[in-house]
Amino acid sequence: MGDYILKNCLVVSAANGVENAAIRVGNGKLVSQGSVGGAKSVDLGGKSFVYPALFNTHDHLRGNYLPRIGPKPGEFYLTWLPWDNDLKASDTYAERANLTAEDMYTLSSYKTLFSGVTTVVDHFPHAINKEFLPALPIRVLQNYALAHEVSSYELKWGDGVEIEHQRAVENNWPFITHLAEGFDEESMRGLATLEHLGALDRYDLLVHCIGFSDDDIKKTARAGASISWCPASNMLMFNVTCKIRKFLREGVNVTLGTDSTHSGSANILAEIHYARDLYRKMYGEDLSAKTIFEMVTCNAARAFLLEDSLGSLDTGKLADILILRGRVDDPYENLVSADMRDIEFLSLAGKPLYGELRFLDLLGGKLPHGYSQITVAGRPMFAIGDPGGFYTQAREKIGFKKVLDFLPFEPGQ
Ligand SMILES: [Fe+2]
Repeated sequence: MGDYILKNCLVVSAANGVENAAIRVGNGKLVSQGSVGGAKSVDLGGKSFVYPALFNTHDHLRGNYLPRIGPKPGEFYLTWLPWDNDLKASDTYAERANLTAEDMYTLSSYKTLFSGVTTVVDHFPHAINKEFLPALPIRVLQNYALAHEVSSYELKWGDGVEIEHQRAVENNWPFITHLAEGFDEESMRGLATLEHLGALDRYDLLVHCIGFSDDDIKKTARAGASISWCPASNMLMFNVTCKIRKFLREGVNVTLGTDSTHSGSANILAEIHYARDLYRKMYGEDLSAKTIFEMVTCNAARAFLLEDSLGSLDTGKLADILILRGRVDDPYENLVSADMRDIEFLSLAGKPLYGELRFLDLLGGKLPHGYSQITVAGRPMFAIGDPGGFYTQAREKIGFKKVLDFLPFEPGQ
């Protein structure tokens, strides 16, 4: 991949807010001034905000199909189990079966990249996903240990909590599990059970944590564990989410996840909007835009134990870059109010994945092999792969003109 310079960027960081600077990319990494000579360049004219590409810390890449499945009107679940049963008995699930597992992974990679995310986890066992992940255009975490959940009725993924957690420690991987996704006795004891098994520590990425007590939250903070907050999925299924303000006040490393679109938001940008609205409803105050920025960038990189190479635009890290149209002055507000139409450019380790045609110079001036063109909000955009062709073929398999909200285009336009 060629080296390049992005000039006159409004570069956004947690430490320094926004600075007008150039971004230099060499060998897929962010490099310092003087180390990229004679490279291609694009001048952003001081109009666009440049962020580290976003993370989604909880998804199931076989499950990104619509519409969502929830309880009957006026009812809510006690645990995730009846939701899983309702999902598998649903028309949505039957319709999804028109697409292959490989199709679902491709579709989910588009959900991911059209929301400005380059790094995501597929919360499924390695045995199920390992044949699909390497071919995807985005970074799907491959080094992780997992459990489905910590209860007697969990889905028996992996080799059990103790062995999987030990594997995480030995390899410096995250140990990822749903936890306290509900209110039955076992869910409420989830954190205590994890602690009893000797598996509560900084390697943990705990998803949901709805039934956590104040004491559980303190223990999570002391252990240095991370959580993935999935508010839209929680509210659909349970009409309540975790005590998010307490997690933040105790200093827990909080990240944001969508869950699959079978229960969560269409993508991480929609989840950000939902999280902000819900927090305001819950507490009568704003969740700061900077805090949300950190949840989907540096906090997530830390939770995945990838903070040495991702999560900020510091020199030496991988060039995972998200450029958004500047609509408001505050760089964090600009991110948290953005939607798919505001994305101007996205790269993964320097490789352009998606962007306006003015960035084609970085790819040699014309669409290279392996890319195609789509139209998003009236703008012609290049994209890796063939999302337009894929959408058309998926509709043929499904049998009608299915609309998937996380694809921001109509094929053929
Ligand atoms: Fe999940």
